[in-house]
Amino acid sequence: MANRRFLILSDIHANLEALSAVLRAVSRRRYDKVICLGDLVGYGANPDAVVSRLRKIPRLVVVRGNHDKVAAGLASPENFNAAARRSAEWTVSKLSRDNMSFLRGLATGPVDLGDGIVLCHGSIPDEDAYLFSDYDAYEIFQSCAFSVCFFGHTHYPCAFRQAGDSVEFIQFKGQSTELILEEGARVLINPGSVGQPRDRTPLASFGEYYPDNRRFVLKRVPYAVGKARMKIIRAGLPENLGNRLLAGT
Ligand SMILES: [Fe+2]
Repeated sequence: MANRRFLILSDIHANLEALSAVLRAVSRRRYDKVICLGDLVGYGANPDAVVSRLRKIPRLVVVRGNHDKVAAGLASPENFNAAARRSAEWTVSKLSRDNMSFLRGLATGPVDLGDGIVLCHGSIPDEDAYLFSDYDAYEIFQSCAFSVCFFGHTHYPCAFRQAGDSVEFIQFKGQSTELILEEGARVLINPGSVGQPRDRTPLASFGEYYPDNRRFVLKRVPYAVGKARMKIIRAGLPENLGNRLLAGT
C-alpha cells in the first residue's frame, strides 16, 4: 500500500528564519507534495528570499493568500490595518520582478487535489473569509463537497470535524499532535502559521498529512524569533510586527 506524505505549510509571511527552521526540521523527509496555503509574504522582513526559497521546493502546490494578492497588485490593501498596509508597500519594493510574477501567477483557491482533498487560504466559498467558528465550519460542511480541506488565514492551528449534524472543534496543542480521521469523517484542518503564529506560542507551526492512512500531524519548531524581530525593526517596518512574533500573537 502506498504511504504518501504531504508537507502542509501556511502563512509564512516573509519570515525566513521560521521557514528555514521548518525546512531544516523536515530535511531528511521526502514529500509527495509540499502544500502552501498562501500568504508567502507580508509582515516579515524577507519577502524576496522566502519566495525564492519556496519556489525551489519540488512538487510544490500553492494557493494564493490575501497578502500575496496585494503584493502582486491584484487587490487593494483597503481592508488592511495601517501596519499591514505599510508592510505591503514595503514588500512591493523588495520583490524581484521574477518573484513578483510568481506571486501574480499563484492559483486562486479552492484547489482540488483529488481523493476529496481541497486546499484554500480562507475558506472554500471565499478565499478571503476567516474560518474561526464552528458555525462557519458547519456552513462549509453543508455547502461544499470535500473530505479533507486544508485552510490557513487565521494563523490558528486547529481542526473542525463533522460529527453527525454537529461540528467538533479540535485545538492543536503541544509540539507534535496527531489526528487520525476515521473512515468517512470530514474535516477542516488549519496547520497554523509558519511565520506569524497567533496562538500565544512563538514556535513555527506546520503539518504533515498521510492521505493513505488519513493521519495528520501538527508540529511546532523553535526558530530564531529574536533575529526575525530585529530584521523587521531594522527595515523600518512597524515595531509591533516584530514584537508580536515574540509573543506569538
Ligand atoms: Fe496570513
